[in-house]
Amino acid sequence: MRISVSAVPPASLLEVRDVHVVYGAGVRALRGVSLRVEPGEVVALIGANGAGKTTLLKAIAGLVETQAGEVTFDGQRISAVDAADRVKRGVALVPEGRRLFSRLSVAENLTLGSYGNRDRVYRREMLERVETLFPVLRERARQRAGTLSGGEAQMLAIARALMSRPRFLMLDEPSLGIMPRLVDQVMDSLRRLHEREGLTMFLVEQNVPAALDLADRGYVLQTGRVVLEGSSDELRGSDLVRKAYLGM
Ligand SMILES: Nc1ncnc2c1ncn2[C@@H]1O[C@H](COP(=O)(O)OP(=O)(O)O)[C@@H](O)[C@H]1O
Ligand SMILES: [Mg+2]
Repeated sequence: MRISVSAVPPASLLEVRDVHVVYGAGVRALRGVSLRVEPGEVVALIGANGAGKTTLLKAIAGLVETQAGEVTFDGQRISAVDAADRVKRGVALVPEGRRLFSRLSVAENLTLGSYGNRDRVYRREMLERVETLFPVLRERARQRAGTLSGGEAQMLAIARALMSRPRFLMLDEPSLGIMPRLVDQVMDSLRRLHEREGLTMFLVEQNVPAALDLADRGYVLQTGRVVLEGSSDELRGSDLVRKAYLGM
């Protein structure tokens, strides 16, 4: 028998294999989730409230314990690696609800994103980079984060995550709580980030049209299981997505 080298798939940046998460009261939030994200891809994760989307991002970030399964990042198993170490390896999460320090300034929030790296040159370089991507943050550097608009606050949350120089950026519902006409701004800034830097992204969104617009590919999660996967076009055309998420 011949073994073809080309049959070996290239290494994914992220691989989630049969991951289970059970919360204290016996809530089975993830029931054997498997998925992968290739370098340079933007992948969407869609699903209703309570489907387990946030739990999956937290499991990848090391913020909740997994009861079974394996998470591999850049070819290495990270299930036993703590959250801070995952950040150092390049995994970043923009959490649901943004979690900014509202009494601190925009600049101070950004500096906190590079915590663990006290090198001033590095910090200045990173600041330069995120302020180029989000010029509004340079204008608002001294303003308190709590006084930003929803869209600006989301850009700050994304920029703060970028300060750790991630190779893999996870976003938990970046359009949530943002005025509809400003959602495009946030999505455009993510598109710019992907075009300019080729950053690999994993995007959780309930705004399914916006998510599929940005993403190459996506997964649909229902009650802790992946029930459908495909290219953005395939998902847009599927009965399940049309009925449950696009209201058609
Ligand atoms: N800390 C927690 N303790 C117990 N149950 C939780 C906790 N966080 C989430 N859950 C439950 O886990 C399920 C998945 O939640 P979540 O991951 O937040 O879903 P989604 O982000 O898709 O809305 C839900 O049933 C939710 O109630
Ligand atoms: Mg959630």
